[in-house]
Amino acid sequence: MKWKTQLTELLNCDYPILQGALSRIGNWKFAAAVSEAGAHGCLTAAVSMTPEKLRDDIRRCKDATDKDFGVNITVGMCPHIDEMLEVVLDEGIEVIETAVFTADEYGKRIKDAGRKWIHKTATLKHALHAEKQGADAVMLVGLEGIGFKNVLQLPTMTTIAWAAKHIKVPIIAAGGIGDARTFLGALALGAEGVMMGTAFMATRECPISDRFKEKMVKAFPDNPHLRHRVLAPPNPGDYEAVMKKRGEMPLPNWLTALERVMLKHDDWEIAPEMWNEDYDRLSNMMSFGVTYVDHIPTVKEFVDNIIEGADNIINGWEFLKRRP
Ligand SMILES: Cc1cc2nc3c(=O)[nH]c(=O)nc-3n(C[C@H](O)[C@H](O)[C@H](O)COP(=O)(O)O)c2cc1C
Repeated sequence: MKWKTQLTELLNCDYPILQGALSRIGNWKFAAAVSEAGAHGCLTAAVSMTPEKLRDDIRRCKDATDKDFGVNITVGMCPHIDEMLEVVLDEGIEVIETAVFTADEYGKRIKDAGRKWIHKTATLKHALHAEKQGADAVMLVGLEGIGFKNVLQLPTMTTIAWAAKHIKVPIIAAGGIGDARTFLGALALGAEGVMMGTAFMATRECPISDRFKEKMVKAFPDNPHLRHRVLAPPNPGDYEAVMKKRGEMPLPNWLTALERVMLKHDDWEIAPEMWNEDYDRLSNMMSFGVTYVDHIPTVKEFVDNIIEGADNIINGWEFLKRRP
């Protein structure tokens, strides 16, 4: 079955599946593997650290795949953001993703350069704002997801179905998606495609330790720690304290601290300094996307499994064929 949606047209890829931005992890090699598998790879600009390295990484990615890939620029986390965006535009990247906060000025620069702009957000309100600013698609991450969370975030199912009633540009659903059923479910809710962070991390090409991948295979969504991290509201005292610190520390450090509070870690005060030390220990970043992780396939096997599984489900829906 052909998987042509507005999104595959926009992204110029075979399947409406996007790789999520992954700070410290989303390098050019990983992005190239995802694009080669027929999905849309994402190079996370913050991983490259400098504009010069980003240019080099984009070129390496182009050498590794003839397919299109995107670049994510996360506001507040991406160093040298203005120069980084300049490099991305200069290197001819067609689809550029912004994330976190409002990204109006970056969106405008992307659109003025004639490129496609996708903005990632956690709430319908912010997605509507991005659409109004000219975003070509919006990415909505529900509560089941990980990364930056929002105190007003809703579960993925509610978020996407609600957004589908109000948003006209293609919606990319994210948050706890990781297999054929959740992929199809997101499309049924009104999304034109899905984005996955956690589930893509459980692949052989992902540059994280085998130790962490084993942890993902063994993890269950009803583990109280995982459940708490993904679903519980932040500790009000920590939230208040970190909000007061805004402006007192460099923005990326503050965002690291805020993310730790939102993910209910009590190490938020030391997290910015630890960030470069022990990624596995500090990060422990995984979402309900681990529900479907029972082995570590290659990226291609992972994408093929989703597509094959989705085709099988649709073909198995006999009742659809019996309808007059
Ligand atoms: C380790 C890790 C690092 C991430 N870093 C970023 C980032 O730098 N920028 C960003 O926009 N999102 C980042 N995210 C969020 C993902 O791009 C994506 O929105 C999220 O993983 C979707 O939820 P899922 O994990 O349930 O698929 C990160 C997620 C993980 C797991």
